[in-house]
Amino acid sequence: MSDDWTWTYEGYDPRQERLREALCTLGNGNFATRGAAPESGADEAHYPGTYAAGVYNRLTSTVSGRQVENEDMVNLPNWLPLRFRARPRGAAPGRWLTTADADPVAYRQRLRLRTGVLERSAVFTDAEGRRIGLAETRLVHMGVPHLAALRTILTPLGWSGELEVEAALDGSVTNSGVARYRSFAGRHLTRVHTGSDGPDTVWLCCRTSASGVRIAVAARTRVVAGDVTGSRPVRHGDCGIARLLFVRAVAGEPVTVEKTVALSTSRDPAIADPLRTAREHASRSPDFTALLASHTAAWDHLWQRTGLCVPGEAGTILRLHLFHLLQSLSPHITHLDAGVPARGLHGEAYRGHVFWDELFVLPYLNLHLPEVSRALLDYRHRRLPVARRAAAAAGYRGAMYPWQSGSDGREEAQEVHLNPRSGRWLPDHSRLQHHVGLAVAYNVWQYGQATGDTAYLYGRGAETVLEVARFFADLTVWDPAYGRHRIRGVLGPDEFHDAYPDAGRPGLDDNAYTNVLAAWVLARALELLAVLPEARRRELAGRMRLGEEETTRWEEVSRTLHVPFHRDVISQFEGYGELTEFDWAGYRSRYDDIRRLDRILESEGDSVNRYQASKQADVLILGYLFSPAELGDLFGRLGHRFDDELWRRTVDYYLARTSHGSTLSSLVHGWVLARARRSTAWTYCLEALSSDVADIQGGTTGEGIHLGAMAGTLDMVQRGLTGLVIREDALWLDPVPVPQMSEYVLRLRYRGHRGIELRLRAGRLHVDVPQSAEPPLTLVLPDRTVTVGPGESRRLRLPDA
Ligand code: BGC
Repeated sequence: MSDDWTWTYEGYDPRQERLREALCTLGNGNFATRGAAPESGADEAHYPGTYAAGVYNRLTSTVSGRQVENEDMVNLPNWLPLRFRARPRGAAPGRWLTTADADPVAYRQRLRLRTGVLERSAVFTDAEGRRIGLAETRLVHMGVPHLAALRTILTPLGWSGELEVEAALDGSVTNSGVARYRSFAGRHLTRVHTGSDGPDTVWLCCRTSASGVRIAVAARTRVVAGDVTGSRPVRHGDCGIARLLFVRAVAGEPVTVEKTVALSTSRDPAIADPLRTAREHASRSPDFTALLASHTAAWDHLWQRTGLCVPGEAGTILRLHLFHLLQSLSPHITHLDAGVPARGLHGEAYRGHVFWDELFVLPYLNLHLPEVSRALLDYRHRRLPVARRAAAAAGYRGAMYPWQSGSDGREEAQEVHLNPRSGRWLPDHSRLQHHVGLAVAYNVWQYGQATGDTAYLYGRGAETVLEVARFFADLTVWDPAYGRHRIRGVLGPDEFHDAYPDAGRPGLDDNAYTNVLAAWVLARALELLAVLPEARRRELAGRMRLGEEETTRWEEVSRTLHVPFHRDVISQFEGYGELTEFDWAGYRSRYDDIRRLDRILESEGDSVNRYQASKQADVLILGYLFSPAELGDLFGRLGHRFDDELWRRTVDYYLARTSHGSTLSSLVHGWVLARARRSTAWTYCLEALSSDVADIQGGTTGEGIHLGAMAGTLDMVQRGLTGLVIREDALWLDPVPVPQMSEYVLRLRYRGHRGIELRLRAGRLHVDVPQSAEPPLTLVLPDRTVTVGPGESRRLRLPDA
């Protein structure tokens, strides 16, 4: 049960715990901590995890007889532990109370989005029948990126004596949150040592074994209501330290304990010694009430900048998505070197790697927190030299971005992966998804359009776009039989197909999504070269040794890339239409869930490569990236006619052949169906909205949220429903009616205009442009162009109304 700003979970259910932990994660873009119970460590039900943006480590494991190296986002020392038990007068203390054996009643977790706090309340009963009421509030400070705090109020119910409270730091944690990865090594932290500062504070410091990142955590624990009768430090083996407090317990009188934690790593800016910084922060931090006030103010400011108001349940879910997006990618990231982790800072799935999912994230951020987008583009730009080396090693010029990226930008994709259904380790060819580089270039361009930040676009942005364009031009081969340039031996976003049936090598030819987007990127690269200030153009061209011969070839490739078709639809790749039709009805009747058809077929000794069956949207992503008018131009440039009929047939064709084995799939389908004004759109939109809150991929959310789908749903309203395209220095709008989301308000930042409000309601668009010294805003609607000056409001009737 939830209201607009609060997510509430009632009752304790160990089977739900991991999902709740992921969805109740608190973070500030610098680090995040899962919503785990402080009194429990990692066990069957619980998995406490803390992750800092960009902190990775590499370990080697032996699986199925081969040595495999993996880089993981590291689970950092657990700062949460806080346990308690009753010690009645004259008696020995009972067991520490945990959810597993203290029979929690009235258990409730509340995630308060407006203020960014997680509350938990319950009554625990020990083996002797003594009850303790618990009311806990935690935060990970949005304003001060090092700080977190936990306030615990314990009330003895019906007994008096003494309460023992132990607040610890635990450095014995490993990366073991994903069952499929348990055959891999997971101990990343070494050289753990601990200590105390005065009566209140304990600290722990350690480093990652290979990347050598130093990590320090300091925790100050104080009883702010209640009489402390004694306290002492306690060592927990070699890797943990605690402060044990004895507090007088009087029936019905609450005892309040505040644990304030500072986390610092050697990757933080402007520090010399993380341990010193963490200790200083912990000792100087104000009390919980003051921290809560400054934390709430920081959230308030963020909500102002990201205003999105959609009524009803959809609006409540969208707000949760925005909350988790901001916790993973906040303005603090501008001081860090980190990318977009596909599963947020919320768990260990996909090892915290960065994929192409930023394609679904940056377009939203561009219009609210452009500095965050820019920092994420810089993560890519800094890894340009490595991407260039990867291209060179593969025999190409330009930059070949890795399918999975971590600390230094080398390819982190797996070489083998486990099919949990068959228990077999299988070769993983996903590194052939070169299209990730196109997503990077697309985002640079969109960032430039939304912000007008030409300093960036002409600077690092241009370098990225040109290097990606160069790689894709080099990847093409001229095929005289086709009279076209082709890209052979790659993978598209649909990961089911990685080879032609019975082929001896992986890879497919002419993935339509890749080829069309490559043509677009090449065209944008040429456009950029044409508009770059002359000195910059000469500098870049000189540095890249980019001559006219090469750019002439780019022009040619951008007009002659092969787009495969079959049966009057765009083919996902050359030959897709010749694959066997899949028996969807038969498999649906035999299996409850066929989203991961690839695993089912492999376990039956078959291969999904043989069938016209896709995991997720592939060709259709073109309809997410571009408006029909843009696609018309793009296909026209490639010598094809693109019209509504072709798109309708293509959408229907893939809808019938997609299993939606990725959360990105329903998002794209919902989007393209909404744009095409189809009544089925809402089913897919709803599925995209439910991806994480209802954990629809069958238990994956507990291992980390799906950040691409979360941000993508926000963008579904922002760009999908409004039809917003930014080009030619104007906002183009073409709202589509989706009855279930017919009313919404968006607050956008576009170039120098901060806080433009777009309000859609009953076939009308209200536009408010705040006062500023900016030029008037140009809005292009399907039937007219209007300008709205700073300080002006306009009410516009939409053509459909
Ligand atoms: C999807 C990819 C995505 C990755 C990380 C996979 O399941 O197929 O497209 O990049 O998850 O979110």
